[in-house]
This record gives sequence, structure tokens and C-alpha cells, in this order.
Amino acid sequence: MNIAKITTQLEKTGYIVLDHPLSATLTNQLVGRCQNDAARFHAAHIGRGPDKKQLIAIRGDEIEWLDDSNAVDQAYLIWMESLRTKLNEALYLGLFDYECHYAIYSAGTGYAKHSDVLQGKKNRILSTVYYLNNDWQPDDGGELILFDTGGVAVIATVKPKMGTMIIFLSEVFPHEVLISHTTRRSITGWFRVSGS
Ligand code: OGA
Ligand code: MN
Repeated sequence: MNIAKITTQLEKTGYIVLDHPLSATLTNQLVGRCQNDAARFHAAHIGRGPDKKQLIAIRGDEIEWLDDSNAVDQAYLIWMESLRTKLNEALYLGLFDYECHYAIYSAGTGYAKHSDVLQGKKNRILSTVYYLNNDWQPDDGGELILFDTGGVAVIATVKPKMGTMIIFLSEVFPHEVLISHTTRRSITGWFRVSGS
């Protein structure tokens, strides 16, 4: 990984899009793990109150946290751990840990505009998304839209293509996942500082 390129870009714009930072072999193995076989995944419903239909209209993914006892998941986590160390060395971010989950959006779902920094919990510093969609086509939709802090101007549109990774400052960019017209797979994660 070209850490200088990553840190320079993060300092300059607050986000970076990487093309195939991980090997094709590992990426294919991650696709294999991002399958809801044996009903490993569960709905990522947020909040409480509204009924299931309303919740799915906000956020349609089903998720499964990576399992560090699985060799494939472990390889991804080790790569992220190495990135964490290097980011701390270069940017003094004091990143304490990294957590991540697989996400599967079924056709017809997305994730409405939101911030990854939960109210009263400001320990998420950097968000990462690694896309696992082989042969993604423009008609498939499911692009990630990054907005400016005010939530109005579009800063970036990211195609969820296999091997694309985005890293962005969690607090700076509200973002949205456009409706996907086909099954959409990814790994979403966060580098965090130690919680208060
Ligand atoms: C999230 C998220 C973006 C994406 O899970 O919080 O914003 O492109 N995901 O999957
Ligand atoms: Mn998000």
C-alpha cells in the first residue's frame, strides 16, 4: 500500500478512493465470505419505533461482523491493522482500533443520507468501505454519494465496483447509498479512538 499517497490525500481532501488495494485472491475470498449462507447475516435495522418496512426504506442492508477466527476475515483485519499503525505514525490520529462488518443490500434497497458519527459518540474517526461487486454495471446503481459537511453539495460519487475502497473522515461527510438494483456487497468499517 502506498501510505504516503493515502495520508497526503486524507489531509488534503478528507477522503481517498483506492483501486484494488488488496490482492485479487483475498478480494475473491472476501466475496465468498460476504454471502448470507447459513443465515449468518441479520438486518441492520437502526433505531427503534418505526415498523420494519419503514426501517428498510432507510437502510436495507443485512450485516455480519468479521470473525477474527476465520482466516479470510483475519487477513482483511490484519491489513487494516497495518493501515491503522501507518496512519497513526503519519497523521498522529491516535486510532485505537478498527471494527467492520460485511453488508449485503438486496435489490431495491439503499441507505438514506446519514453520518457515521452517532450522537453523543464521537469515537469513529475514519470510515472505510471495500466493495465486492464483480462485474458492476452503471444500471446496477448502489453508488455511494459523499456530501459536504452541510449535506447539500455532492463531493464524490463512488461506484461500488469490486476492488474499490473508499476511506473518509467520518465526521466530515454525510453520505448516502443510492438504491441498488441488484445485490450489493461490501465491507464497511471504522477506525476509532478510545471511547470516553
Ligand atoms: C454505512 C455506509 C456506505 C456504502 O454502512 O454506514 O454508509 O457505500 N455504507 O456501503
Ligand atoms: Mn455510513
